[in-house]
Amino acid sequence: KEIFLKDYKQPDYFFDTVDLKFTLSEEKTIVFSKIVVYPRLEGCSAPLVLDGIDLKLISLKVNGDELKVDDFHHDARHLTLSAPPSGKFTLETVTEISPQTNTSLEGLYKSSGNFCTQCEAQGFRKITFFQDRPDIMAKYTCRIEADKSLYPVLLSNGNLIEQGEIEGGKHFAVWEDPFVKPCYLFALVAGKLESRDDTFITRSGRKVLLRIWTPVEDLPKTAHAMYSLKAAMKWDEDVFGLEYDLDLFNIVAVSDFNMGAMENKSLNIFNSEVVLASPETATDADYATILGVIGHEYFHNWTGNRVTCRDWFQLSLKEGLTVFRDQEFSSDMGSRTVKRIADVTGVRTYQFPEDMGPMAHPVRPHSYIKMDNFYTGKCRISPSCIGHDIGAEVVRMYKTLLGAPGFRKGMDLYFKRHDGQAVTCEDFYSAMRDANDADFFNFLLWYSQAGTPCLKVVTAYDAQAKSYSLKFSQVVPPTPGQPVKEPMFIPVAVGLVGPNGKDIPLSSVYHDGKLETITKDGQPVNTTVLRVTKKEEEFVFSDIRECPVPSILRGYSAPIRLDSDLTDADLYFLLANDSDEFNRWEAGQVLARKLMLSLVSDFQKNEKLVLNPQFLLGVKSILCDSSLDKEFVAKAITLPGEGEIMDIMEIADPDAVHAVRTFIRKQLATELRDEFLNTVKNNRSSEQYEFNHTNMARRALKNIALAYLGSLEDEEITELALHEYKTATNMTDQFASLAALDQNPGKTRDEVLADFYDKWQHDFLVVNKWLSLQASSNIPGNIENVRKLLNHPAFDIRNPNKVYSLIGGFCGSRVNLHAKDGSGYKFMGEMVLQLDKLNPQVASSMVTVFSRWKRYDETRQNLAKAQLEMIMAENGLSENVFEIVSKSLAVS
Ligand code: ARG
Ligand code: ZN
Repeated sequence: KEIFLKDYKQPDYFFDTVDLKFTLSEEKTIVFSKIVVYPRLEGCSAPLVLDGIDLKLISLKVNGDELKVDDFHHDARHLTLSAPPSGKFTLETVTEISPQTNTSLEGLYKSSGNFCTQCEAQGFRKITFFQDRPDIMAKYTCRIEADKSLYPVLLSNGNLIEQGEIEGGKHFAVWEDPFVKPCYLFALVAGKLESRDDTFITRSGRKVLLRIWTPVEDLPKTAHAMYSLKAAMKWDEDVFGLEYDLDLFNIVAVSDFNMGAMENKSLNIFNSEVVLASPETATDADYATILGVIGHEYFHNWTGNRVTCRDWFQLSLKEGLTVFRDQEFSSDMGSRTVKRIADVTGVRTYQFPEDMGPMAHPVRPHSYIKMDNFYTGKCRISPSCIGHDIGAEVVRMYKTLLGAPGFRKGMDLYFKRHDGQAVTCEDFYSAMRDANDADFFNFLLWYSQAGTPCLKVVTAYDAQAKSYSLKFSQVVPPTPGQPVKEPMFIPVAVGLVGPNGKDIPLSSVYHDGKLETITKDGQPVNTTVLRVTKKEEEFVFSDIRECPVPSILRGYSAPIRLDSDLTDADLYFLLANDSDEFNRWEAGQVLARKLMLSLVSDFQKNEKLVLNPQFLLGVKSILCDSSLDKEFVAKAITLPGEGEIMDIMEIADPDAVHAVRTFIRKQLATELRDEFLNTVKNNRSSEQYEFNHTNMARRALKNIALAYLGSLEDEEITELALHEYKTATNMTDQFASLAALDQNPGKTRDEVLADFYDKWQHDFLVVNKWLSLQASSNIPGNIENVRKLLNHPAFDIRNPNKVYSLIGGFCGSRVNLHAKDGSGYKFMGEMVLQLDKLNPQVASSMVTVFSRWKRYDETRQNLAKAQLEMIMAENGLSENVFEIVSKSLAVS
């Protein structure tokens, strides 16, 4: 059933208090719920409709009396009280559920013998009968009873107010959460866990106990998570003045979890992949992800929990804002430019493709069949990112327009107005606007209009008039259900770089018949933010004495595709000189995209591929420029991904794009062999592993050099990579050398892969890396190996991380996924059907590989369509998969 934003209605009944009691046992769990209900309007006589799925109703009482069969209606999804009392009343239900057979991992389920919950978005209805919607905010207590030896630790939200023993070897704990919350933030954990404890003293002097819970053997791997949590708590105080509001903060790591983590009030539950780390087992990327996700979930305490969403269409209100906050946190803890590059790459790799497919939707969708499908972005294929990149970009634009102090003012007003409420994206917008008395024109379109805007720029220098003009024209492409679009308000940060490589100071711009002053505190600026709002418009800078090269969209000031008339010479100039480091990187990317596209067309015409010598020189000068940040260099010499190139082609051609990318990599490795070898040698270190930018940057540069070299099939390089593999003292270096060796099939590759498994088979997170590396290999016919791995003892289709590693990993190889014999599609079709019976959320994240089937040639289209039709014909398909498959087949 499709749900529409325009149909939102306030609930007829609110819940005041919710008292829950769980008796957990091996066969079944009984949930007692006592809710104080009151009507929104006095004297209301509307029926009370409760959600409930897979629940066995044992008892139902109103004001203490068991209801008669005629007074309620129960079906597969709802429990309806036809005539509840007018005025306040208590509703008591007793339900039976079966966590041990719950493979969907939503609601209450078991992971490695422990009980845990996941309620967002709509999992609470699998626990007990409830109005499962975020605008129902209530105060909760939760009593848990369970066997004491099997489940020594019993956790829920808020404060522990009572605990003790009960007969039969059981014990209990009672938790009370003093804050009102929607049910999606409810959590319960029961199991054999130990904690790493620490404390944090808030700036107003509250002493908070911090506890990270894991099975005992994993405790040593929680040090980095604890460091991250304390850093996040401090950062939120420093940057936003936001303090933690309880005396206890719990984090629990579980190994079976659909996504990354969950911000349940004071009891965050995490996929262990984004908590556990040690230098020997986790890479730099893992460390950085953990920092970001721990921050993210912690930041939700204010943006999400204290102020929550009115309905699920407002998801971006909390996710966009919280992703933005975690991005800023990570930037402040590491390198801002490098973080920005990583985030923009995420937008291009995961968000833009979605905008081009049948699931394209605005930041605030107009409708959904299954809300879980709108937790988009990278999180759909790996738990390491939360997604909502575009929502975060929208929040970032407020900051770009208002400046940091103005943005802070807006945040302060937002909390002042809405603490304890369930609100909408407009409420956030209004707070930002009102706090700054700002004119945001039609900025709200960013929430309602889908599709990636394309902004064209034509530049001109008038040497006579000493003026420089930028002419913009924008197009927002049609998306399903939105054929015609309005022009958007696009903030474009611009600087003009003079022939000496320095920014030209700007003090005014002529626009719309007016001369606007753009100074700051009376001083000219190097960068100004142009407000592009029309289909076509021009901005003219005057008093520009020499012809500049424009640096447009500095810092990626809006989530759009930019199409400028800059020449290759201009781009090489920016690559070498732009004071905006993001745009320096971007200039290199634009050059690489152009180069790749032109080689793709050569390849398709069967012409010999030749690498442009100027490009080679550009890469060489970046690689050898010791004044640059090493991680920046690593990013700058990384070619755009194959998916990114396919997205800008009329008809996506995975074979051509792969051949071209491989060709350029090999050419660069051949021509710059000595430089790459030196880079590897000069950036080794035998020091102890440290998580800091300098060390990570050094490793990043060394390992990208090794990756380039690994593309050469050559004995000296194999020896080098083997040496790196054997001498590595941390997983970052060890895995990078393994990956370098993985590129070429043969005996060495087989041996080293076997050795790695041997070494790490006891550590499931490392084994997942091993699965994913092999699965994503571009070696022709790798599908056979992937099928074999399905039967490997290390694989288990019920565990999402393993599915994301092996099956998701396979999708990482564009050539093998889109193999022209249809073998990749057939495999994915089979997997989706198997997964859907176990875990619809995981199945639907896998089925998205088919959603853009129309982007390929006819042969591939027919093969993919056949799989979609095969899936569609299946009986008992989940709503999750149904939504994506039906929308994919509907595109004409
Ligand atoms: N709110 C979570 C986070 O920010 C996302 C988890 C959503 N899970 C789901 N099954 N829909 O990390
Ligand atoms: Zn989130």
